[in-house]
Amino acid sequence: MLASRRGFVGGSLGSLMAFGLLESLWSRELLAAGGRARLGPWFAELGARTRELRGRQLRDVEFQERLGALLGRVDLAELEELIDFDAVDRRLGAPGRGRVTQDVDLRAVPGVPTATEFGRRLFACRSGRAIVPHGHHDMCTGFVVLRGRWRGRHYDRGETTREHCVLQPTIDRSFGPGEGSTISDHRDNVHWFVAETDTAYLFNVHVAGYDPELGGAPGRMYVDPAGEVLAGGAIWAPRMSSAACHAKYG
Ligand SMILES: [Fe+2]
Repeated sequence: MLASRRGFVGGSLGSLMAFGLLESLWSRELLAAGGRARLGPWFAELGARTRELRGRQLRDVEFQERLGALLGRVDLAELEELIDFDAVDRRLGAPGRGRVTQDVDLRAVPGVPTATEFGRRLFACRSGRAIVPHGHHDMCTGFVVLRGRWRGRHYDRGETTREHCVLQPTIDRSFGPGEGSTISDHRDNVHWFVAETDTAYLFNVHVAGYDPELGGAPGRMYVDPAGEVLAGGAIWAPRMSSAACHAKYG
């Protein structure tokens, strides 16, 4: 009985091995388990820093430093396990698309703070398409490149009126996998990322509404960096509607 059971199990395993199924299933299980083990503490640490930001134990630029360091050591392979790239690619390839934004589901990672503490999002673009130039109000955000390359530009946002803002260029370079950048209300507040490869993907986290003293609702403001260049290289950038900015730069 035992021998025949062993024979049956051995035969089944042999068949699975023959088809390569067992190996791939086992690898996926290991990856999933490892991902949960490593990503859980990573997101928990991000949650702790977020609470320090909201609790005023960290200024926004200090949080920004820590967020940059965290993004620099996230395990990309494990993060990618959470994303169905085939499904994203199908959406990217649909007529009239070329740019996809979607929330990333972190429910498979135990202990991850809720989306009300910090948002988590995937941005995907085909070559030449962009995350259009925009600044943020009452929001800290950070990006890390998952796949592909992007040309990324950042600006410090100075004087801001209803119709313009002064932008001082701070970053302009190519970003590849594992590289990222951050934003706060007081440093590198405006960003603009253009996909340089056939497809390119970014993972984003954002903390909105962290400082009641800033007033008003947290959100984006769209700007046109092709404004008049002022003394010292600053730009007198017209503010734009989302539709106008996406039409020109998207
Ligand atoms: Fe942004």
